[in-house]
Amino acid sequence: DMGGHDTYMHKEISEQPEAVDRVLRGRIDDRFSTVHLGGLNLDAREARGVRRIKILGCGTSYHAGMIGAQLIEELARIPADAEPASEFRYRNPVVDPDTLYVAVSQSGETYDVLAAVQELKRKGARVLGVVNVVGSAIARETDGGVYVHAGPEVCVVSTKCFTNTVVSFALLALHLGRIRDLSVADGKRIIAGLRKLPAQIAEILATEGDIEKLAGEYAHAKSMMFIGRVRGYPVAREASLKLKEVSYIHAEAYPASELKHGPLALIEPAMPTVAVVPDDDLLEKNRAALEEIKARDGRILAVAHQPQEKADHTIVVPKNETELDPILLGIPLQLLAYHTALALGRDIDKPRNLAKSVTVE
Ligand code: M6R
Repeated sequence: DMGGHDTYMHKEISEQPEAVDRVLRGRIDDRFSTVHLGGLNLDAREARGVRRIKILGCGTSYHAGMIGAQLIEELARIPADAEPASEFRYRNPVVDPDTLYVAVSQSGETYDVLAAVQELKRKGARVLGVVNVVGSAIARETDGGVYVHAGPEVCVVSTKCFTNTVVSFALLALHLGRIRDLSVADGKRIIAGLRKLPAQIAEILATEGDIEKLAGEYAHAKSMMFIGRVRGYPVAREASLKLKEVSYIHAEAYPASELKHGPLALIEPAMPTVAVVPDDDLLEKNRAALEEIKARDGRILAVAHQPQEKADHTIVVPKNETELDPILLGIPLQLLAYHTALALGRDIDKPRNLAKSVTVE
């Protein structure tokens, strides 16, 4: 049942305010400025003993894991990184007893992620899951974890599960942070930011008409560049994947700082750039990248907290706490991918060559 929407993708994008509300519900503890994660199965002493966190996933879940790793480093100060599960499992990784492994999967059935989990368990590692489908294979094989509570996602292209997965990582990061060195004041600040998310997502969704017009302007590009730095980079990666999957427009994603090391050669009027430009300590650096693109006559669509002078268009997104900004910056780009695909007459819920869950190698 599409509940009045023409596609599941549109329905699922629209459901995000409620979905985020659901992942927060019952988990926030205002007394200790922390969150409780019932199924984590990791007590405070164990959490303090974790020296590193390694996040494994594929596709969109890998991108959510990249943001998750940044949140864990920022809030819990535990070194963390994300890697595609398939790469990890084939490179004979060094499995370290002080590392906590986290497998991320919407479906909980992705073969490469499941195989990585099984290999890690065989080597005695502790593996948690960040999973949407309750009782799925990865949920069963992991030692504990966080359910994403996004509700069923039918469209092959993941939207609301991505957002809820990132919010789940924010909860995990806050939980670990408050066991370690995150202050009560910072805990309170992040909790207040989390509580603002549903209304801010609704605010972004209300600008859909403007984003639809922008999609009309960019739908005829053969190729698009997506750039961001640090918090904006995984957002750019995910937006580029979304556009490719659903519109079949070729897209590249690079850290803005890498442009001058090669991809700048591609910039010309026919290759528009989508730039993720949050109001953080890298704003000036990002603005410099926009100038470099403009100097090559590149067209720029910025997603930012304030209009960008060098951009041809800016989608202005509401500001939250800096650590949580990536959650909001990606939402308009889901709508951009959707409306681009719609303008091109694509099969939005079932893009060619793709399956909802990839249960083969
Ligand atoms: O179910 P999973 O999260 O494990 O799926 C992983 C990827 O196959 C998935 O995210 C894929 O990239 C989607 N089509 C993204 O929209």
